[in-house]
Amino acid sequence: MLKIEALAYIVAETTDIAKWQHFGERVLGMQAVPTADGLGLKMDGRDFRIAVVRGAADRYVASGWQLADRAAFDATVAALQKAGVAVSAGAAALAAARKAEAIATFSDPAGNLHELVCGYAGGRTPFVSPIGVQGFKTGAQGMGHTVLPAIPFEPTLQLFHETLGFGLSDIFNFKPAPEAPNMRIYFLHASAGRHHSVALAEMPNPAGCVHVMVETNTLTDVGLAYDRMKREGVKLMATLGEHENDRMTSFYMLTPSNFAIEYGYGGISVEPGVWQTTQTQQVSIWGHDFSVGFQ
Ligand SMILES: [Fe+2]
Repeated sequence: MLKIEALAYIVAETTDIAKWQHFGERVLGMQAVPTADGLGLKMDGRDFRIAVVRGAADRYVASGWQLADRAAFDATVAALQKAGVAVSAGAAALAAARKAEAIATFSDPAGNLHELVCGYAGGRTPFVSPIGVQGFKTGAQGMGHTVLPAIPFEPTLQLFHETLGFGLSDIFNFKPAPEAPNMRIYFLHASAGRHHSVALAEMPNPAGCVHVMVETNTLTDVGLAYDRMKREGVKLMATLGEHENDRMTSFYMLTPSNFAIEYGYGGISVEPGVWQTTQTQQVSIWGHDFSVGFQ
């Protein structure tokens, strides 16, 4: 049933490639590799996990979803079409840019753009961080997770949960203030079992993404990134803390494309088909003061 394995990559648009290169290398500790339309940020054996493209805006562009093979790819495209979603066969040039054997694109009911990719056709070379990050937790579970604005909420959730087959890991009813209306944030897993590869948040976001999470192999690398964020003058969006639902110890900072990156360690995995959906009552066990992001 579950065909999508993981979040393969994300695409960000920028008016300032040099700023992203500096942020990618000096703050995130990834390897920047020039591409035809910008740069790729490498965080494991793959050529890139973050594609930064030159453009007129500073925003999130798309989420790339990994299908293992052609059969899984075709089945997912067919499921979307059956559900009435318009799917475009991606051009060969786009597939080549994303290092995919095949690519298809579609938008969800909230207007978020998605790319389905079949296989991986790029290089496989060791990750060597320019500033000594020990490594990111990727592999079958992909590059991390993305949290997308989801208004209208129900049809967007339906597309991910019912059509694409993502499992529900956790549901959270967020009340930012006692008098504020409830905002739903639902966390969904793909087949490789990262606690969530996507979360749908019932809130608007002008940058097109609430945050993207990348996970390091050591807690030390999260602390070192926190120091680099301060030293480089990058805006802190949430203080260090530990999430209740996926137990990620992390902090949040602003990318040059105006969405946040959660830089974390120690997230849990779930077993698809076995995991019972949880309903957490708080964002974090400790820390994660998001009010700093509004300052
Ligand atoms: Fe997150």
